[in-house]
Amino acid sequence: MQIQTSCEQAINRKYPEQVAIAIVKDAQGKYNPITLGWTMITSHRPPMMAISVGHTRHSLGALRQAREFVICFPASTMSEDALFCGTKSGRDLDKLAERGTETQPATVIDGVLFADAVANFECKLESELETGDHVLFVGRVVASYVNETGETHRLYTLDKDHRMGRVVPD
Ligand SMILES: Cc1cc2nc3c(=O)[nH]c(=O)nc-3n(C[C@H](O)[C@H](O)[C@H](O)COP(=O)(O)O)c2cc1C
Repeated sequence: MQIQTSCEQAINRKYPEQVAIAIVKDAQGKYNPITLGWTMITSHRPPMMAISVGHTRHSLGALRQAREFVICFPASTMSEDALFCGTKSGRDLDKLAERGTETQPATVIDGVLFADAVANFECKLESELETGDHVLFVGRVVASYVNETGETHRLYTLDKDHRMGRVVPD
């Protein structure tokens, strides 16, 4: 039986939620990672993915200017990186330099990949849609990578307090 409640209460039942990190070059020339829960695949052919980025984020202007970005699926071992990139702003610091997270160069776009991630996708911006307090950016995937030597389990947010970890089947 269902009991009617607020949207906020009902949405709290969504966890676990996949974690992604988008990396985009900003106006100062630094590669700025932003942690995202709101991401999705939108098409097989051509391969397209979408990310939802808040109006207040430093990454928003960078995405509009660079028109290309990397979407990374962090490994379950990368919770500290995801929390850092999701609580600090590129307006105030160079997140990659500060954390020292290992990266490798992208090959098609001007960007970097997270070397220890489960997978990385280079995307070219196709379109954007205003959706309220966030903007939906849709990118066409132009290069893809998987980690063959390291952790292959993705990172998830387990609850609304941003507790993160690996999801183990029941
Ligand atoms: C687990 C987690 C998920 C998040 N999901 C999103 C998201 O989907 N969209 C968004 O705009 N911000 C999201 N955030 C918040 C941004 O990552 C955060 O505001 C970040 O500091 C913005 O960085 P920037 O100012 O360098 O762009 C999330 C944060 C965390 C910790």
